[in-house]
Amino acid sequence: MEFPKNFLWGTAASAYQIEGRDTNDGKGDHIWNIYEREPGHIYENQTGDIACDHIHRFKEDVAIMKKMGLKAYRFSMDWSRLLPEGTGRVNETGVKFYSDLIDELLANGVEPFITMYHWELPYELYKKGGWLNRDIAEWFGEYAKLIAERFSDRVKYFFTLNEPQCFVGLGYLRGEHAPGVKAPLRDTFEMAHNALRAHGRAVQMLRAYAKQPIEVGFAPTCGMCYPETEKPEDIEAARQMMFSMSLQPSDNWTWNVAWWSDPVLLGHYPEEGLRLYEPYLPKITDADMKLISEPLDIYGQNIYNGRCFRMGPDGKPQEVTRPLGAPKTAVGWPVTPECIYWGLKYLDERYHMPMYLTENGMACHDCISLDGKVHDPNRIDFLARYLKQVKRAASEIDLRGYFEWTLLDNFEWNKGYAERFGLVYVDFETQKRIWKDSAYWYADVVKENGANL
Ligand code: NOJ
Repeated sequence: MEFPKNFLWGTAASAYQIEGRDTNDGKGDHIWNIYEREPGHIYENQTGDIACDHIHRFKEDVAIMKKMGLKAYRFSMDWSRLLPEGTGRVNETGVKFYSDLIDELLANGVEPFITMYHWELPYELYKKGGWLNRDIAEWFGEYAKLIAERFSDRVKYFFTLNEPQCFVGLGYLRGEHAPGVKAPLRDTFEMAHNALRAHGRAVQMLRAYAKQPIEVGFAPTCGMCYPETEKPEDIEAARQMMFSMSLQPSDNWTWNVAWWSDPVLLGHYPEEGLRLYEPYLPKITDADMKLISEPLDIYGQNIYNGRCFRMGPDGKPQEVTRPLGAPKTAVGWPVTPECIYWGLKYLDERYHMPMYLTENGMACHDCISLDGKVHDPNRIDFLARYLKQVKRAASEIDLRGYFEWTLLDNFEWNKGYAERFGLVYVDFETQKRIWKDSAYWYADVVKENGANL
């Protein structure tokens, strides 16, 4: 087993989680900028106002990437930094920031991958109905046009949406993320449909205004499913559950892959979901489906964990319960490395796309030890286990890169700074960056192209 020669090793991040603000930056508010000001939503009422102060320190951060040997960096653009009202007026200060960041990456041999939407919905668009308004497809298209016009001379890779499962599910169904709404089921299906339409429109606009051949995809998430053993019947049980919408209760319906990726890549919603959720669905036209399924070049998948299945004696998939005390990350997510190989394998069988693993990583309770260093053996162990599975997948399917989440400890949404996901420790009081043991370890993995995994 080995990684392809040109495998792209990188890290991923999002705008709001690292950038911070500046009184002269001309940026408009997005829904998180409003939400964070209301007490009670975010851990200790923390905000992303400074975060990693990346807008002022991006050169230092790119220098870290270079030193780590990273080949690629996936980052998001904040829609409201470029278009403060979401449409219309362009904020040239914001354009300059991303332009300088791209130049800095390229000058240091790091390939930029742009994510257009990592949950930063301009507040002005939210007030017009946001994802509930069908016009959002056009608004997002206008934003895509700007991105293509200003950055595609230097950037080749684009993802439209990051984890629509989360921004619809956590933001509007469970109300744990901005804008903190518990919307009726019907609204959430309408939003999901509009998000996919917006994705399709963005693909069209990116291609129409691109200044060179580009590769476009989207980056959903979802818990993967994996089999208890490699017996064909267990493999089949996990395969069935991987794309089933019955795994989650209706108040968590977004948490599946098929509802999002089938329409985009197969041109239709999954039958099971259409049946289960029929009373809540918006009008779905052929023209919508055509837009949603605009052909893509690449497919990104974020993977953190999964659930294990076997085929039961009645011929139905049966979930395998985890042993007592089975390992978890600091945020309580199960450590299940096998989900990577099997998840990617099932996605490859169903969608036949060139793929990137666009996010994977873990939160640990990291701290600076008495020796001044940050020791994170759990993260090294986690990454080693997961990357072995990535290697197995990469030797069988068309997997082109791995983006570890994330380079720097950062603002973890409603959990604020309480959760540390970085390879590099950030002291948020001083903004000092300290390489954790895992950062040195990952640099070696990258250097050896995973040969020793
Ligand atoms: C997925 C999201 O895309 C990212 O923003 C988040 O920080 C990580 N998972 C970790 O929760």
